[in-house]
Amino acid sequence: MRIINTPEGTRDRLFAECAERRQVQNTLVDLFRGRGYSEVITPEVEFYDLFVQSGNPIPQEAMLKIMDRSGRIMVMRPDCTTPIARVAATRLRSEPLPQRLYYDQTVFRDRGAHQGESREIAQCGVELIGAVGEEADVEMVSMAVESLRRCGLRSFHIELGHAGFYRALAARMDMSAAETERVRSAIEGKNFALLNDLLEPYRGRPAFAALRRLPYLFGGPEVLDEAEALAGESVCIDYLRRLYGRLAAAGCGAYIRFDLGLVHQLDYYTGMVFRGYVEGAGAPVLSGGRYDNLMERFGRKAEATGFAVDADAVAACLNQTAPAAGRRLRIALTKGRIQDKALALFERMGLDCSPVRDPGRRLILSIPNYPLDVVLAKAPDVITYVEHGACDLGIVGKDTILEKGGSFYEVLDLGFGRCRFALAVKEGTDFYGTYKTRRAASKYPNVARAFFEKKGMDVDIIKIEGSVELAPILELADGIVDIVETGATLRENGLTVVEDVAAVSARLIVNTASMKLNKEQITGFIAKCEADLEGTV
Ligand code: PRP
Repeated sequence: MRIINTPEGTRDRLFAECAERRQVQNTLVDLFRGRGYSEVITPEVEFYDLFVQSGNPIPQEAMLKIMDRSGRIMVMRPDCTTPIARVAATRLRSEPLPQRLYYDQTVFRDRGAHQGESREIAQCGVELIGAVGEEADVEMVSMAVESLRRCGLRSFHIELGHAGFYRALAARMDMSAAETERVRSAIEGKNFALLNDLLEPYRGRPAFAALRRLPYLFGGPEVLDEAEALAGESVCIDYLRRLYGRLAAAGCGAYIRFDLGLVHQLDYYTGMVFRGYVEGAGAPVLSGGRYDNLMERFGRKAEATGFAVDADAVAACLNQTAPAAGRRLRIALTKGRIQDKALALFERMGLDCSPVRDPGRRLILSIPNYPLDVVLAKAPDVITYVEHGACDLGIVGKDTILEKGGSFYEVLDLGFGRCRFALAVKEGTDFYGTYKTRRAASKYPNVARAFFEKKGMDVDIIKIEGSVELAPILELADGIVDIVETGATLRENGLTVVEDVAAVSARLIVNTASMKLNKEQITGFIAKCEADLEGTV
């Protein structure tokens, strides 16, 4: 067979596309050199163990693996910071600190099948090794601002957070390590509903109010005042304020935002973290932070900080004109049962939904009296549109979120579309009481797998597209993991629930970049939804 396609997530680039990428790379490289940074080129293929040893948070399944002749597992370089830390700790060991290094290299990441994401990311970045404190962080952030400005972007923010702020608050709550991680993840995902539930048992503890408010603490420097009012004196807030003062004096103030809920990868990042958001990109185009423990893993104790720019993502935004203030938001709505309930909610909020009530064959409908366009889509597609930034918001069931996952903020439990995931079997059969490997059928294989893994059970999962109840009846499976709403389908087919797996209801989700770039509009919409939900409780 003649092969004419490139592997998924890779592509040929021709002419203008090459020129645009090259222009961004040249601009960044000129900037880095001008600031005294020297280039390092590391191998495209590295030992897998290098990244495990580094504590790098890239998940194992995101690394593209190959095997060398002796059977050792190698990876296509998934990140540039780890190999550069190795070089700085070994070949450059006797060089005086600080060291200023830059790279212009491709990294490779597997983003899953059919996600429309590139597996090859052209990264230009810097590492500042052996420099600590304000001076070094100002150098990094002002260079991040300058990177995007020199590339020609107009509408962008560099957003700062601090790993220590959450750590300090969590320490005052006396939570277990597992609970600290669950709360962190809810804050990072701006999952307000889950966060409230997780924190409820700790009501009255010193940092309760501050932690509850943490996901909302993003925006301009005023959030630092609010954080201080909630949390009391904080070395991290003082630090960020001083940093902001110096960045403003250096002419970067207009580009700086804060997100104190930016609490990702606490084991890796040790201090200030930052991300760059650009109008037109659905995900951050720049990310960086301080990771003072990394070098030590390679045998040389030295602080380190750095950032990387996604050159293609920046190039894709270059010709975008900044949208007029107050642009219309776009919400993806799951067709069917959820749609009706969501429209009822919108109408209670005062939105005129008549075009959506009578859509004909149209799939995008404008709300006449609110700056909102409604996109009608199937549940998994709602997530895809929101993740890629094609829609700012989405309404989708927790069942689909649990099955598909993804990177977005899950801001509200809308309370409708309530049902549950359950394990069910034919009446009179025993799913657990045997040593034989069991087989479970499900429309949601990931949910089913995660459930049995958590129980320490090795169960074969078989994917069924619909009417899953048939599988045990036809003796294709010993049980099913499926949605139960009224329980009628189970009853009428002689099945019974063995165990609940998870509760399900409709959720409001938000694209991460859009939340930052359209804060007023999106938080305004969330607040309107919340007001209705609180009124109906
Ligand atoms: C869902 C689910 C169950 C049924 C549960 O199926 O998979 O079969 O609803 O509802 P109940 O507890 O109220 O009886 P759906 O109607 O979406 O159809 P499908 O199985 O063909 O996908």
